[in-house]
Amino acid sequence: MFVLPKSGAVAVYYFRFRSSLKNIVFPLPAEKMEATGEATKTSETHNLPWVEKYRPKKLEELISHDDIISTINRFLAQDRLPHLLLYGPPGTGKTSTVLAISKQIYKPGEITSHVLELNASDDRGIDTVRNKIMNFAGTKPAGNYPFKMIILDEADAMTKDAQNSLRRIIERFTETTRFCIICNYLSKIIPAIQSRCTRFRFSPLNKDQILPRLHEVCKKENLSLDPNGEKALLTLAEGDMRRVLNILQTCSMASDEIITEESVYTCVGHPLPSHVEEIADWLFNHDFMQAFRNTFTLLQTRGYALQDILTDLHLFVHRINMPSRLRINIIDKMAEIEERLLVGSSDKIQLSALVAAFQEVKD
Ligand SMILES: Nc1ncnc2c1ncn2[C@@H]1O[C@H](COP(=O)(O)OP(=O)(O)OP(=O)(O)O)[C@@H](O)[C@H]1O
Ligand SMILES: [Mg+2]
Repeated sequence: MFVLPKSGAVAVYYFRFRSSLKNIVFPLPAEKMEATGEATKTSETHNLPWVEKYRPKKLEELISHDDIISTINRFLAQDRLPHLLLYGPPGTGKTSTVLAISKQIYKPGEITSHVLELNASDDRGIDTVRNKIMNFAGTKPAGNYPFKMIILDEADAMTKDAQNSLRRIIERFTETTRFCIICNYLSKIIPAIQSRCTRFRFSPLNKDQILPRLHEVCKKENLSLDPNGEKALLTLAEGDMRRVLNILQTCSMASDEIITEESVYTCVGHPLPSHVEEIADWLFNHDFMQAFRNTFTLLQTRGYALQDILTDLHLFVHRINMPSRLRINIIDKMAEIEERLLVGSSDKIQLSALVAAFQEVKD
């Protein structure tokens, strides 16, 4: 019989989000807005999702990457901003940094005439690069401004041809324009562009960086978050501040009560750690039919995705004491099941395969 580690001693879980919460729009109900704190009172912030409402407006408001921010501040103080290439995982402040830079350089009414922002939703094929960017870059900045800015957000979605056509443009208009290129994957930016820019990597935010901001938002929105809820939020967010704010807003809209571990996991539809432990127990210690029936019923009633169960279960398999040959065998089978799920196989059949894999190891 396999003995599962006690839940209290469970190491950090690695949870994976299958769906990004990035694009969810949260309209706030009017009565909820009235009940909330000071930050919600102004009409401008009324309908804003929290990720926008709490987007840093100044460089000092960014909660991380102090070294990057101080270097950029030095560039700005000397009017010597180079072309920038900011890269790193989602929700770490890349776009916010560039928007804050533009706000720091230009007066509010003059931003639109001096900053051209193009992201993945704009057409950025080779023709746009040639026409739109060249037209914008071709005219001098007004007044005493040293240069105009072109922000190419989500640049890893640009075609290689479009990127290639940029290399000459960047050089030709350096006198009057600075390019800020933002992406998640540096490898998708051609080396010629990389070498023309000063690169900054935005790493995932750590707990100490996220927590003060999280507490500030909770205070402004009059939310109570219990310690386990906070821990769950940090685990699920994986260093992505956008996710932290989105999950928090979802939880606050779901109920007016204290936000707990259970409410956080339930809001995002992710399996609760106690449920994953229960499933591991069934898989290791029950016969095939019993383990299958129990797991299937739990998945059905809670609406969990087998993919998420598989990801979390994988950690148990690493922690449980068993001969390494068996561990290798079961991880190999789990990897196969995951692959089949990704190509669209039936959850029910793959669940049977998962239960069977554990039975085989036990035998
Ligand atoms: N370093 C940070 N400091 C404060 N807030 C942050 C930070 N990073 C992210 N946020 C919050 O998350 C939201 C999204 O951040 P931002 O758009 O800058 O992320 P990004 O790095 O550009 O992500 P993506 O790669 O997905 O575009 C912001 O509106 C802000 O509320
Ligand atoms: Mg961005």
